[in-house]
Parts: sequence; C-alpha cells; structure tokens
Amino acid sequence: MRYPKEVVLKDKTEAIIRPLEKKDETKLRELYAALPEKDRWFMRHDVVNPDVVHRMIAAIGKGNVLSMVALVGDRVVAHASLLMRGYGCTRHVGRLRIAVMPELRHKRLGTWILLDLIQLGMDQGLDDIRADFVVGIEDAAIEAARKLDFFKVAVLPEYVKSPRGTRYDLQIMIKRLHRNWGDF
Ligand SMILES: CC(C)(COP(=O)(O)OP(=O)(O)OC[C@H]1O[C@@H](n2cnc3c(N)ncnc32)[C@H](O)[C@@H]1OP(=O)(O)O)[C@@H](O)C(=O)NCCC(=O)NCCS
Repeated sequence: MRYPKEVVLKDKTEAIIRPLEKKDETKLRELYAALPEKDRWFMRHDVVNPDVVHRMIAAIGKGNVLSMVALVGDRVVAHASLLMRGYGCTRHVGRLRIAVMPELRHKRLGTWILLDLIQLGMDQGLDDIRADFVVGIEDAAIEAARKLDFFKVAVLPEYVKSPRGTRYDLQIMIKRLHRNWGDF
C-alpha cells in the first residue's frame, strides 16, 4: 500500500492515513489528551502519561507493533495499532487498539484506518485479529468491528470496573484473515 493515503469522510472532511512516524509524538500526545476521561480509563493504558506515548513511538520499526494514524490538516485525529507477539503460540494473532478524536467519530474514519491495518496484518502473515471491548461502554467499537466481520468468541462477565467500581463484561472478538486467492 502507498502512503500517505487520502480518504474522504462522510461529511466530506479530507483525512490522510499513514503509518505512525517518530515526528508524531507531540501530536499523538495531543490526540490522547483530547479523549474523554471515560474513553481513556477503558483503554487500560494511561495514555496521557507521556511515557506511554513515548513507548508507542519507540516501538516504531521494532517489528512487534503496526501503528497507523489519521491526520486532518496537521492534527493527528486517530490512532490504531496491532500488537504482535512475534513468538510462541499466539504469534499468529494481532491485538487491536483504536481511538478516534470525539468530533471526528461516526464519519467512517475508524473504518478506513481499520481496513488498512487489517491489510497490513495480512501482509505480516497474521491469521487472526483480536479485539477486547467493554460491553455498555465501547458499543460503537463493537458495532464497527462487527461490520468488519469480527465475531464474538467469549465474554468475561463483569471483568472490568469503571472508576466508581461498577463492573462491566469484557467481550473478546476475533476477525479471521483469509489469505489472498493467489496464495493457494
Ligand atoms: C470505536 C471508534 C474507534 C469508532 O470510530 P468511528 O470513526 O466513529 O467509526 P466509523 O464512523 O467508521 O463507524 C463504523 C460503524 O460503527 C458503528 N458506530 C460508530 N459510532 C457509533 C455510535 N456512536 N453508536 C453506534 N454505532 C456506532 C456504526 O455501525 C458505523 O457504521 P455506519 O457509519 O454505517 O453507521 C470510536 O468511536 C472511538 O474512538 N471510541 C473510543 C475508543 C474505543 O472504544 N476504542 C475501542 C477499544 S480498542
């Protein structure tokens, strides 16, 4: 795939999708700082901690993370990544994370960036992509994943907690990646 790639969102906003680059560190920090506290809590990483974003940047090119960003103008407005183990019994699985800036949600940006990430996962030889979603909190993500042929494989009942201690189910979804016809 050739990057940067232009996409046009539902409301005609033009965005660019490309792999995360080292120069994006400040803009990536700004994206995570702009997310509502509620979204960040359920991401399970403290993404407003500069060290966490620095680790994302440091992982570029090391082989165990594929990271894509979307930009509108010079702002990073979405980040999606596939984490890979590189060794062992789950080496064939990529684990998905995604965040889109609130004001750009429901305009198809998440879908665009995921489609590219899925293709990159296939190019890496992955068989499956796994994503874990909090039921009742990340329902938009569950719906977006379902539309991309992710299916529910398990639910961990009342596994996660809100900051106030309310428990929610964690739903594990998988997408199977099929090789291109040419591989047969
Ligand atoms: C989940 C998320 C990435 C979706 O990104 P997005 O750019 O808004 O998604 P899209 O516009 O491509 O939507 C794709 C589909 O998802 C569903 N969807 C998106 N937002 C929705 C919402 N608020 N409510 C219900 N369904 C929604 C719709 O079915 C939509 O298809 P449609 O456009 O044909 O209606 C975004 O909401 C987000 O960043 N959420 C917070 C972080 C998060 O939950 N991450 C997932 C955990 S890894």
